[in-house]
Amino acid sequence: YVIGIDLGSSAVKAIVVDRGGIVHLTLSKQYPMIQEKSGFSEQDTEQWYIKTKEILTEVVKKFNGKKEDIEGISFSGQMHGLVLLDENHHVLRNAILWNDTRTYKQCEEVVEALGRDRLLAITKNQALEGFTLPKLLWVKENEPDIYKRAHCLLLPKDYLRYRLTGNIAMDYSDAAGTLLLNVEKKEWSKEVCEVFQIDENILPPLVESHAYVGNITETFAQETGLPVSAKVFAGGADNACGAIGAGILTGGKTLCSIGTSGVVLSYEEPNHKDYQGKVHYFNHGKENAFYSMGVTLSAGYSLSWFRDVFAEKDSFNSLLDGIDDIPPGSNGLLFSPYLAGERTPHADASIRASFIGMDANHTKKHFIRSVLEGVTFSLKEALDILRESNPSIETIISIGGGTKNKEWLQMQADIFNTEIITLSNEQGPALGAAILAAYGCGWYSSLQDCARVFISYEESYLPIPENVETYERLYALYKKVYQQTKELND
Ligand code: XUL
Repeated sequence: YVIGIDLGSSAVKAIVVDRGGIVHLTLSKQYPMIQEKSGFSEQDTEQWYIKTKEILTEVVKKFNGKKEDIEGISFSGQMHGLVLLDENHHVLRNAILWNDTRTYKQCEEVVEALGRDRLLAITKNQALEGFTLPKLLWVKENEPDIYKRAHCLLLPKDYLRYRLTGNIAMDYSDAAGTLLLNVEKKEWSKEVCEVFQIDENILPPLVESHAYVGNITETFAQETGLPVSAKVFAGGADNACGAIGAGILTGGKTLCSIGTSGVVLSYEEPNHKDYQGKVHYFNHGKENAFYSMGVTLSAGYSLSWFRDVFAEKDSFNSLLDGIDDIPPGSNGLLFSPYLAGERTPHADASIRASFIGMDANHTKKHFIRSVLEGVTFSLKEALDILRESNPSIETIISIGGGTKNKEWLQMQADIFNTEIITLSNEQGPALGAAILAAYGCGWYSSLQDCARVFISYEESYLPIPENVETYERLYALYKKVYQQTKELND
């Protein structure tokens, strides 16, 4: 058996999988985000450890097999979050998360000091508020005492792995989201460190996602009941693990994942493609592969925002119930999902959302349908960029909250104008982590071989030509909304 752990933004989840890819246990525990000021988003790193320890203890209790048969553990983790440790490896402050947008000024400084072209050449990405380097520079400017004591920089799941094993490491797929990595050369960028006077020694050793990084410590084994023989493998960024767990491991394969944020991503061979930072370009969890990815910041979040503000008493199921009675296009109601700014394609932290075209006859269901349509249009803008250099995207694997409703899946097929395929018994990035552990343990000779056993496809949704046409017309209008509403928040 292997355990895949996904350290998410709101919860940690663990799954236990056997050699045949059968999932025996799924457990998760939540922890809060700390949002003390507008734009701030932090988490208590201790909570990650405590909750993980709790679920792993429960895993051992509920596990029917022999606990010595738990051979491997690996991780998936929320990306970009800054964790700083002092020389005794104690955490210096709360982690600053991927959805924290306090670093507007630092992003400008990055572009100014390094130059846009160098930044893109080295990191393959733009300087965005969510990424790690601007967060580090924010700490340097605003909390100089903490910065001076910083001895080691980690990302969330790397910190968790350190607590389980006592060993410090970071994998390429997560390091790619720091803006400190030379993404194609797979090494920390001396140039970036020099320009921002960052001591390169604070950056951890880099490893592949399937690399063995040590066993769990005796203490952790005793506390949880896990066998000390359990090997720990590095793991990867949640998006890379989401891709692995959906079989996005060869050319042309594309994923749509809707959670709090939403992404569309395409597998890329080493090909020196240059998206000019319009979409992210990161190292994959598969050795020597990459993926290009567009992000909509408020995807599932748009829906939970709507519920919290206007339909507090509704469950998500009842919220979505009946949206198929509303025609595609929501009778002229159009939503842009920029509740907390937008990444792709606008890279604009200050843009805000809108509903336009409201009619006195619109009902709550119209609003809900238009939220789903707006989120999907936003993902299509990212997909359009991916299609510029991957014109053959005809099938998309859909995972996450966006698969919980059939009408939303059909909407994805109609708006993207592709076949949409869902996975049976979908486990999200945790399955990618389990696949990395299984491959690390030597159960299979490649990630693809393992994925073929672990993953099975369930349903297919084909675009309905009439809907495709309606949505194409609306999408043309949707694309104008950003420019027309931009000045409202300048
Ligand atoms: C990707 C990103 C998010 C987080 C969410 O760039 O910021 O998808 O990884 O966990």
